Amino acid sequence: MASIKMIEHDGTEHEVAIEDGKSLMELATDNAVPGIDADCGGDCACGTCHVIVGDKWFPNTGVANNDEQQMLDMTPERASTSRLACQIKITEAMDGMVVRLPEFQM
Ligand code: FES
Repeated sequence: MASIKMIEHDGTEHEVAIEDGKSLMELATDNAVPGIDADCGGDCACGTCHVIVGDKWFPNTGVANNDEQQMLDMTPERASTSRLACQIKITEAMDGMVVRLPEFQM
């Protein structure tokens, strides 16, 4: 099973099956992974789907556009590999990807 591992700030791990074409945010919410609030439903307008992508996987997630960068600038725990999960489209090539969830969303 191709999967992505999401790790909560306290170390709790969630392994979720990849569903091609969904966003990472949809994958998290569909699998009841805590810590992804996704208040705007994926419109890149709330910043409550912040994730920190594992270094090795960061290039596979694409490039954040200006709107996403502005939202990320407001997230309290921004890291160099931060992304908004609603802006990451899942592909089978992401099998094994690891992302960490911040302790707090905005
Ligand atoms: S769900 Fe609102 S910015 Fe991602």
